[in-house]
Amino acid sequence: MGKNLASKAPLAEQPQAVYWEVASRYWKDIATVNPQWAWDSYYNSLIPDETSRILVMGVTNGSFMELIKQFKPQAWVCGIDLSPGMLEMAISRGNEVICCRGDYLPFEDGSFDFVLSDYFLSVIPEEVLEGTIKEIDRVLKKGGSFVAKELRNRGHLVLWSASSLGCGILGVAGFIFSPLLAGAFFVLSGLALLSYNPFSHTMGKSARIVKFILHLTRFTLRRKKVPTLAEIRDLYFISEKYLHVFTDRELYSVFEPYSLGIKTEPALISWNFSIIGVKQ
Ligand SMILES: C[S@@+](CC[C@H](N)C(=O)[O-])C[C@H]1O[C@@H](n2cnc3c(N)ncnc32)[C@H](O)[C@@H]1O
Repeated sequence: MGKNLASKAPLAEQPQAVYWEVASRYWKDIATVNPQWAWDSYYNSLIPDETSRILVMGVTNGSFMELIKQFKPQAWVCGIDLSPGMLEMAISRGNEVICCRGDYLPFEDGSFDFVLSDYFLSVIPEEVLEGTIKEIDRVLKKGGSFVAKELRNRGHLVLWSASSLGCGILGVAGFIFSPLLAGAFFVLSGLALLSYNPFSHTMGKSARIVKFILHLTRFTLRRKKVPTLAEIRDLYFISEKYLHVFTDRELYSVFEPYSLGIKTEPALISWNFSIIGVKQ
């Protein structure tokens, strides 16, 4: 069984926390990326075998941590997240996690030799970014590595959110008239999500569509009523206000004291880039 390690860190208010808590309700079976794919194609080569302490920023449902532990059994893998709902899922997968914000890490200086930010820095609010990066820097030991695999382009994220929201609303409108119509809109919604979702290349396309439609249907049926607009917005719309997508240049400048490399992933569409830093 996993553990929620007691945290001394203040869980200060962050408006976006509400978004992630709602998201945790439907995030159960979906990790943002397909962890196996990411591991095989990418992380395995970046985490040195002798790494002994790994920190995962933003654990979501914990499947990523589970995979890291499988491949680096000698390492202690610890994760942080601000959403109790996400942490519950991560704990049920046997992970050790702490409930805290990225800008208040409850660890001593130099505690980790590897810190991973997988779609984390690009989804936290702008006002906590600097503090979060400072904290990552503080808890990394000298010679330790930092990897951020992030979104490159805000435009796609906005399109994705807007199309998902639009189709969700159409789905509800359809539900009022006929479940068949709603079904059709939900399918459209899934397709829209698929076409704009910046993460979709990491999961089999049909799997992504089926999972998304199942989620939407399950959510609607479980509640035995049509979701309210506010619920749909919370579920499918990521407000621009809460999300800031950094360009590789911006991130690069923040990590200047590191020896850095930048890599663009060979994705279907190159929405992702990575910064790989070694602390000097
Ligand atoms: C896009 S997900 C990360 C994706 C993850 N790597 C995966 O494979 O599923 C972002 C995660 O970060 C958490 N989060 C967002 N802002 C945070 C913050 N300021 N401090 C800690 N966790 C945060 C969210 O609750 C969410 O679980």
